[in-house]
Amino acid sequence: MRSIVLAILGLCLAGCDQNMEVQPSYREYAPAPLFRAGTLRNPPANVVARDDLERDKEVRDKPALTDGVLKRGQQRFGIFCSPCHGTAGDGDGIIVRRGMPHPTSYHDERLRAADDQYLFDVITNGHGAMYSYAARVPPRDRWAIVAYIRVLQLARHASVDEVPPDRRDGLQAAQ
Ligand code: HEC
Repeated sequence: MRSIVLAILGLCLAGCDQNMEVQPSYREYAPAPLFRAGTLRNPPANVVARDDLERDKEVRDKPALTDGVLKRGQQRFGIFCSPCHGTAGDGDGIIVRRGMPHPTSYHDERLRAADDQYLFDVITNGHGAMYSYAARVPPRDRWAIVAYIRVLQLARHASVDEVPPDRRDGLQAAQ
């Protein structure tokens, strides 16, 4: 009697298992009556496909330095970085003044000596307490921001000799 009950129980469990195995699920590219285009859906905005060669190229190739790139960098820096790093890059942005750890100033010897790729990588991957901006700042804008960080550094540390001769007069007058 006991073994019969057990056998029936066993059969029931096996039945459950069967149900789980044959549940309806779609294979990729299969027709799906619910969606007009089948199972292949349009990806949401800003999704990056793996092996997206166009994007890889943007990551690899630093854009040439133009006024447009610098202006874009200045604007993006103002939006994404200045809240912590401050508008001049000293690391004293409004969020830091309210308790975020103080980042190293961009005018620090080490960060002035760091190459562009290092700065690009910090934006991409984050650094310590700073999180990654890869999802918010596309590669071309990251390069533009890096260029603008160089502007900030030069603005404080370049000597008059590095300024083109025809622009020096105005500078010295301003001092
Ligand atoms: C929410 C605040 C915050 C924002 C916004 C932010 N950072 Fe940072 N950043 C930090 C902090 C904090 C550190 C120091 C992290 C540490 O050393 O743990 C840091 C460090 C850095 C460093 C120095 C890394 C080193 O080697 O010391 C660079 C370069 C940098 N950030 C660039 C950027 C750029 C470019 C942006 C804008 C795209 C940005 N950060 C936006 C908080 C921020």
